[in-house]
Amino acid sequence: MLEFKQNIRGNVALGVNPLGCKQEVLNEIDYVKNKGTFAGPKKVLIIGASSSYGLATRISLAFGAGADTIGVSFEKGPKNERNLGTAGWYNNIAFREAAEKEGLIAKNFVQDAFSHESKQEVIEFIKNEFGGKVDLVVYSLASGRRTDPDTGETYTSAIKALGEPVVGPNINMQNQDFYIETLEPATDQEIAGTLKVMGGEDWQLWMEALKEADVLADGVLTTNYSYLGTELNHPYYGGGTLGLAKADCDEKAKTINTLLADINGKAQIVVATAVTTKASSVIPFFPVYCIALYKVMTEKGTHETPIMHIDRIYRDMVYGANAEYDEAGRLRPDSWELDSDTQAKTKALIQQLNKENFNTDIAAYDILYKEFSILSGFMVDGYVEQEVTIEDLKALEY
Ligand code: NAI
Repeated sequence: MLEFKQNIRGNVALGVNPLGCKQEVLNEIDYVKNKGTFAGPKKVLIIGASSSYGLATRISLAFGAGADTIGVSFEKGPKNERNLGTAGWYNNIAFREAAEKEGLIAKNFVQDAFSHESKQEVIEFIKNEFGGKVDLVVYSLASGRRTDPDTGETYTSAIKALGEPVVGPNINMQNQDFYIETLEPATDQEIAGTLKVMGGEDWQLWMEALKEADVLADGVLTTNYSYLGTELNHPYYGGGTLGLAKADCDEKAKTINTLLADINGKAQIVVATAVTTKASSVIPFFPVYCIALYKVMTEKGTHETPIMHIDRIYRDMVYGANAEYDEAGRLRPDSWELDSDTQAKTKALIQQLNKENFNTDIAAYDILYKEFSILSGFMVDGYVEQEVTIEDLKALEY
């Protein structure tokens, strides 16, 4: 029988519990089903579909709106007893099994979304096995590297400040430590690399390829998740390399809007709230912001996990009557996070945090750690241990 061990390096999870991942997918499906159904899209392509925001989007739209889905992700399957692959691999499988049980199409493409070949394979599938058109394209990709499909050059993103170094507290979940970190400003090459990887270029390439192939329905919508944050994280996020990449997505949304005008399509930037994900756990200082924010928002009853936030976005805002937009036309479900009292209390709490108290009741380290663990299938509510072998895992098909 396999033993699943939670193995954390810094704030990166290396271990996985495949059965816990499955249970978490089922928990998220239950969350959506308990909210009932809503009128939404029927044919959805999700790029970056295997975890956190992308996976939550897929679950909300499949089990809330009855959508057929195509999910593109980059994950690894099991090799041997010491290398069981990645959580997203098992999330994809659990999702497909549950969706197919309900009679929904749930196709997984596990490959590099940045390549031209991936785009063409997805297009062929839409044409031949998905009814010919999609009515929603969700771009939820987060990556550290991207190979430009035309030049073959590989770019690396860097989460860094601009101009001046930033000094502040950070958390290491491996050692349960609170320490002061200095983040050096990005070099020109790091800025350019982050723009290439996390900017909107690939989103635009997807939309151009899909349009060119005539697989976008009239009135198609494409969403892309952004983050703006506040003065509490501006020096290392909004005012850093990632902020530039997100501003590039704003620009690309305008280009995509022009591209889609003749089919009444729309590109929508969705400024989402801060949540615990594989991608956000490695943003320097961000975990400290999160444990303070989560404490304040939990007390106010406004703290959300990805499935709660995403389901609200599509059910109540995008396909509902409660959408809030800013002057730039971006959808703003992050208004609960940005609430002035929430921010004032978060700021005051961050100032009180130190090595001795960060993991006590004063803040929400317990919530951060549990949400982080759940991403790899640990500490999942309702999880029941079962006997499973490496052969059982290898036999699973995505
Ligand atoms: P995540 O790390 O949980 O998911 C990233 C997804 O991208 C996974 O499905 C992964 O397999 C896929 N992926 C990565 N490289 C790929 C490749 N080469 N080809 C195909 N798939 C690939 O990330 P998370 O946090 O859900 O981020 C999604 C988006 O949401 C990002 O744009 C992020 O900036 C944004 N966002 C995140 C917030 C947060 O607090 N986590 C807040 C607001 C926005």
